[in-house]
Amino acid sequence: MTSVIESLSDWNRQRSSPAFQDKTLGLVPTMGNLHAGHRSLMERSRHQNDICVVSIFVNAPQFDQKEDLRSYPRTLGSDLETARQLEIDYVICPTHKALYPDHYTYRVTESRLSKVLCGKSRTGHFDGVLTVVLKLLMLIKPHRCYFGEKDYQQLQLIKGMLSAFFLDIELIACPTVRDQDGLALSSRNQKLKASDRVLAAEFPRILSMRLPVDVVKDSLQEAGFVVEYVEEEMGRRFGAVLLGDVRLIDNFLLADLGKVF
Ligand code: PAJ
Repeated sequence: MTSVIESLSDWNRQRSSPAFQDKTLGLVPTMGNLHAGHRSLMERSRHQNDICVVSIFVNAPQFDQKEDLRSYPRTLGSDLETARQLEIDYVICPTHKALYPDHYTYRVTESRLSKVLCGKSRTGHFDGVLTVVLKLLMLIKPHRCYFGEKDYQQLQLIKGMLSAFFLDIELIACPTVRDQDGLALSSRNQKLKASDRVLAAEFPRILSMRLPVDVVKDSLQEAGFVVEYVEEEMGRRFGAVLLGDVRLIDNFLLADLGKVF
């Protein structure tokens, strides 16, 4: 049975109850609108832990654009159904007020990796991500937490934060789940117009070609994308493009270039 928890004091009471003693707890932090990408993290957590928690919280501080926050898909009813199907024990959906009693005056800032790639154009985005993830980890107290390689920069920043603050929590990195045509699943994909959705599949296909970065950028532009960046870091190639007002990101291991599609 899935319990839905909105109040942090209800959670704290549960978390310190005898039912949690000597049990492993896995946490999948999300912003909801759960799709097969999220489901893969939830299934992995279900396999590895006695107790599974999914948090659903659309975290305002990590949005650099008001309109993106306003239009972010909120689908709690179907998300709870997904959680029930996957036998998640707890879905925690706190309010902004409860998570930010300090009004976001206290925050976690990373000063190197968070300033490149997506961090260059999305000012403050990773401060928002790291701050909310730290809050969720301190509150939920998991043994393991699950993050997707689709957001590889985010995953590395969280890994770095766990190590920097000596948090004894295992981070499990989960591979990117893609649609049949190769586009990485993302809650923002539904904002694409039908014609753009067809074109969107060209993004991972071109990004993963075994060609120099400049050629890849030109090919993406010719295909109709506005290129934010294509860069190689940490043994991976990263890309971000705009299609209309929808931003798509993806990344591939350099060793896999030319072999993915
Ligand atoms: P959200 O976009 O909801 O993603 C939650 C988790 O699902 C992240 O770890 C993300 O990398 C993973 N994920 C999303 N799409 C995926 C896909 N196609 N394949 C595999 N994993 C995928 O990322 C966030 O929320 C937020 O920044 C959060 C960490 C919850 C902090 O607010």
